[in-house]
Amino acid sequence: MTVQTLEVPSPADFHVHLRQGAMRELVAPHVALGGMDLAYVMPNLAPPIQSSDEAMEYVRALEALAPHTRFLGTMYLSPKLTPDEIRRAAAAGVRGVKSYPRGVTTNSDGGIEDYEVYYPVFAAMEETNMVLNLHGELPSDADKGICVLNAEPLFLSHLEKIHKQFPRLRIVLEHATTRAAVECVKRCGETVACTITPHHLQLIVDDWAGKPLHFCKPVAKTPDDRAALRDVIREGHPRFFLGSDSAPHPLASKYPSPASRDNATQNLVHNCGCAAGVYTQPVLLPLCATLLESFGALDKLNAYVSENGRRFYQEPATPGRVVKLRRVTEADAAVPAAYVHPASQGLDDTDAAKLQVVPFMGGQRLAWCIESA
Ligand code: DOR
Ligand code: ZN
Repeated sequence: MTVQTLEVPSPADFHVHLRQGAMRELVAPHVALGGMDLAYVMPNLAPPIQSSDEAMEYVRALEALAPHTRFLGTMYLSPKLTPDEIRRAAAAGVRGVKSYPRGVTTNSDGGIEDYEVYYPVFAAMEETNMVLNLHGELPSDADKGICVLNAEPLFLSHLEKIHKQFPRLRIVLEHATTRAAVECVKRCGETVACTITPHHLQLIVDDWAGKPLHFCKPVAKTPDDRAALRDVIREGHPRFFLGSDSAPHPLASKYPSPASRDNATQNLVHNCGCAAGVYTQPVLLPLCATLLESFGALDKLNAYVSENGRRFYQEPATPGRVVKLRRVTEADAAVPAAYVHPASQGLDDTDAAKLQVVPFMGGQRLAWCIESA
C-alpha cells in the first residue's frame, strides 16, 4: 500500500544562501516555511563575511527575522582569516569556513587560488573542530581545457590532498554533481562528507542550457552523473546529505534586460548574462520527498534531510520536533509562481522584478505537502 503520511524528525539544511537587505527579509522566514529547523548559512555576501564578529552579527540578524529557526554561521576563506581568528570564531560558535575558488560563482571574486597558503588556517580549524566547506570547482580556463562540465572532476585532487594533509579536519564537498565526486568522497575517510541538492537530483545539462531559472553552479551534468547522485541517496550512505544550496536571485538578475543590467551587475557570473542559483527554500521538504519518491528512495528521506547531516555536524535533532507530510490532493495549491517582497507593491515592472524570486518548480504541484510542523 502506498504511504499517505510521513514523519520527519527535525529536518536540517546544511547549505543555504539568505543574502542581505530586502532579499534577506523575504527569504529568511522561508527556511521554516520549507519545513527546516536548521540552516547552515553561507558567507558569500557583498562584501563577504570574513570575521567571527561579522558571522555572529549575521546570525543574530537572521534570528530576528525568523526566531524559531536555528542558524549556524560560517566565514569566507580569504587572506583576512588567520589561525587566531579561527580560534576566536570557534569559541564564539561559528561552525565552518567556506572556500570558493576565485570567480566560479556569485560573489567569488575574492575567492582563493592556492590552498597551501591556507594550511595554517586549516590546522587551526582541525584543532578547533571547525568544518571546511569546499565549493569543488576549478575556475574555467579554456587554455587548460577547464570548463563548467569538467571543473568539478578536475577539482577533486585538491580535496584528496587537503584530506591527506589534515585527516582529522572535517570537510564537506558541497553540492556534488558528478559520479567522479561521489566516488571520491566514498573513497575518503570518515571526516569527509558531501552535500547533494534536490535540484541536482532532478536536472541534467539539457534542463539549464538556455533556461535561466535552472542555471546554477556547479551546473547539472549528465544522466549518468545524476544516476550516481540518486544511487548514493537511495543507498542511504551516511556521509551524503541535504545541503539545498537554495540561492535566491531577483527575477531581474535571472533575466537581465538592458535596463536592469547595471543594477544586476554584482550578481552576474563572469561574462554570463544570468545569475547562478536555483531557489528551493520555501518548498524544500515537500520537494525532497517528491523527488526521492520519484526514484525509489522515499525510505531514505529522514537519512537525507536530517540524520546524516546532523550526525556529521554533531547537531542533535531538536527533541520532540517532527514535521508531518501528507500527499497532496487536487484541492492543494501548486508551488507559487513567485515570492514577492511587500515593498514591490506599486513599483513598475522593472523595479518590482528586483524584489521577486521565482522558486524551482513554480506553478507545478508537488506530490507531498506539509501537514503540520
Ligand atoms: O548556483 C549557485 N549560486 N552556486 C553557488 O555556489 C553560489 C550560489 C549563490 O550564492 O547564488
Ligand atoms: Zn551555495
